Amino acid sequence: MKLRTIALWTLALAAPMVTAQERPGLVSAGDYADGTLGSAQQPARMDVQPGSVYRVGKWPTYTADLAPGKGRDTVVGNCSMCHSVTYITMQPPLPAATWKAEVHKMIAVMGAPIQPATEEEIVSYLQEHYTPQTRKP
Ligand code: HEC
Repeated sequence: MKLRTIALWTLALAAPMVTAQERPGLVSAGDYADGTLGSAQQPARMDVQPGSVYRVGKWPTYTADLAPGKGRDTVVGNCSMCHSVTYITMQPPLPAATWKAEVHKMIAVMGAPIQPATEEEIVSYLQEHYTPQTRKP
């Protein structure tokens, strides 16, 4: 819960940041596009001057759709308490044992309040859809 509170405050404080048009001397600006999370392009080199102004784009709003299947709602409900489920889809396909360890880490290290039976359901779902053998593009 504490982590979530911190995350929400961070977002709340970051939200009213100035926009590109308001910054005199802006030389570069960009936004994340929906659906391109994880494939940001490296910008071309440019001629920067001392005192150049940059703007970091707005926070990505894209949240991945998880694969349909048994356990999906349980995963969405329990795994988006502290971060979005894009944390799942932005991983490379992980071996089954790694998903088991990852879910356990969220409980044991990060403090996710997930009961053992629910943990099993979540692990099964992730193994069913997000391993090198089972992940669909
Ligand atoms: C109690 C809060 C909390 C919950 C609930 C939670 N996570 Fe996390 N998770 C974190 C934190 C904190 C990080 C690390 C944050 C970062 O690096 O940005 C993280 C990171 C991750 C990562 C990135 C790899 C890593 O180990 O850092 C994955 C994948 C992930 N979580 C999956 C899950 C899944 C699957 C669930 C549901 C079982 C889940 N999380 C539930 C807090 C949580």
